[in-house]
Amino acid sequence: MPDILILDQISKQFDQTSVINHLSFEVEEGEIFGLLGPNGAGKTTLVNIITGLLDASAGAVTLFGNYAPGDAYARANIGLASQSLALYEDLTAIENLQFFGRMQGLTGGNLDAAVKQALAGVGLTDKADQRVKHFSGGMKRRLNLAVAILHQPKLLILDEPTVGVDPQSRNAIMESILHLRDQGHTIIYTTHYMEEVEKLCDRVAIMDKGQLIALDSVNGLLQAHGDNYHIRYSQDNQIHNTETDNPLATIRELLESEQPADISSLSVQSPTLEQVFLNLTGHQLRDG
Ligand SMILES: Nc1ncnc2c1ncn2[C@@H]1O[C@H](COP(=O)(O)OP(=O)(O)OP(=O)(O)O)[C@@H](O)[C@H]1O
Ligand SMILES: [Mg+2]
Repeated sequence: MPDILILDQISKQFDQTSVINHLSFEVEEGEIFGLLGPNGAGKTTLVNIITGLLDASAGAVTLFGNYAPGDAYARANIGLASQSLALYEDLTAIENLQFFGRMQGLTGGNLDAAVKQALAGVGLTDKADQRVKHFSGGMKRRLNLAVAILHQPKLLILDEPTVGVDPQSRNAIMESILHLRDQGHTIIYTTHYMEEVEKLCDRVAIMDKGQLIALDSVNGLLQAHGDNYHIRYSQDNQIHNTETDNPLATIRELLESEQPADISSLSVQSPTLEQVFLNLTGHQLRDG
């Protein structure tokens, strides 16, 4: 797959403080690329550099093979759902979408079709005529996503799209994202929720303090940096714990060698991205 985005040795300082340090990676066409890191890791700063809202202090960003952030072609083909909501509270959902659609150059029947599709895509069709100020946090997040997808961008950047949302909106957002990937959009997804990354992302970059500390598929990260599987079973009213890198083989052995009828319960705990992060950095991904 061709690269949609190439970051080459990006650094960013605010005053004298270094926030991003020599960061390089590529995002391939059609993937959901997770950018995982704790608060203050530099995720939003990086997103702002990719979209041209901020200039890098050093390094190069190449978009769509041949463009820099800020070029008209790059701007027209990126959709950003920013971490801080960008919506007009006094307008209805549909009025917000019509406004932002016009800003993106959509008019007439194209605008109407895009608004309708975006509303349906985030499950807000029946809320189209409600003012945003009456929306829940989750509904606002969904509308924020709808604004970002109105012009069918090749590259969609979602900066913490599920922060502060109810479980129903979280599921709606995750489903919309998978659907968008199936339609061929490339998605960069920043979060500090590893469960979302485990469910959604084809590849994951783990950032900490402005540096890239690992980049791989979720399985690749778990295999390279995760702990063993933990198997816990009770037998003859006693709890047993065992560690293995091959849970199926261990369970088979257990069932064949012992008296399996005595085993009353068995559970397997898989390695997690949280552990991967802890193993790589020495501190927790979640700080609260
Ligand atoms: N305009 C700015 N001026 C000075 N420092 C800034 C500015 N913007 C961000 N920072 C600092 O840069 C660091 C990275 O911030 P950034 O918002 O990129 O992190 P993040 O990974 O998006 O965090 P979060 O998960 O909280 O959204 C933080 O220490 C932040 O205080
Ligand atoms: Mg952020």
